[in-house]
Amino acid sequence: MVNALRGVNLTLYQAEFVVITGPSGSGKTTLLNIIGTLDKPSSGKVSIDGEDITGMKDGQLTKLRRYKIGFVFQFHNLIPVLTAQENVELPLLTAGVKSKAAQERASLMLERVGLKERLTHLPDELSGGEQQRVAIARALANHPKIILADEPTGDLDTKTGTEVVQIMYEAAKKENASVLVVTHDPVVADRAEKLFEMRDGMITKGPQQRLRESYRLRAIEPVPPEPARSLSQPN
Ligand SMILES: Nc1ncnc2c1ncn2[C@@H]1O[C@H](COP(=O)(O)OP(=O)(O)OP(=O)(O)O)[C@@H](O)[C@H]1O
Ligand SMILES: [Mg+2]
Repeated sequence: MVNALRGVNLTLYQAEFVVITGPSGSGKTTLLNIIGTLDKPSSGKVSIDGEDITGMKDGQLTKLRRYKIGFVFQFHNLIPVLTAQENVELPLLTAGVKSKAAQERASLMLERVGLKERLTHLPDELSGGEQQRVAIARALANHPKIILADEPTGDLDTKTGTEVVQIMYEAAKKENASVLVVTHDPVVADRAEKLFEMRDGMITKGPQQRLRESYRLRAIEPVPPEPARSLSQPN
């Protein structure tokens, strides 16, 4: 038996952009799936929004996923026969939001990810980055508490990846959600407010290291030049 996770202890706070990196097989996807209630841990406890989900029944978990969690995957998983607008509306309608309100929320989310002009496009009429932005809008649609993203930039070039990360970062702030991204992409890691590293199913580096590193970096920045005070002073 493989112990995919061993002794992981992670707390996510609201409006936080958290990134986990680590080598292939280190347990990143497993961790994300457990937080997203797609997998169950053999032991341990997961709480979401103050609720212990460990003993929840499938129906309760489905509801929890619908209302509190948004997923973004490496391959966007959009429904090919639905337009961008309809793809974003779908989770809202499933959650019982009235058609008009769903339309408005979907348009707003698509506008927020910069796709106002693409509402009626089908997924295959959009670029990879645009498709991923629709997936982000869809993940955000239902005011989730947590957005979970597994390699969201894995299929994108660096520039597009940077844009997608920026959109997710802003989503954390504007929607007051915690965004947790697992990735190999240094561009994403670079944007993290908290950066963790996983190895062999454990979190081996926590956010302290990152703070200390950036502190060190600041410490070696050159002292800004003195303002040209003497020049403006009379005599
Ligand atoms: N369904 C499964 N059944 C048994 N073992 C699994 C299963 N899924 C993953 N594992 C194992 O659990 C460990 C962690 O896998 P996981 O997919 O979480 O890694 P990862 O960090 O996401 O890797 P990658 O960067 O390649 O996506 C690996 O050793 C993997 O082989
Ligand atoms: Mg993975």
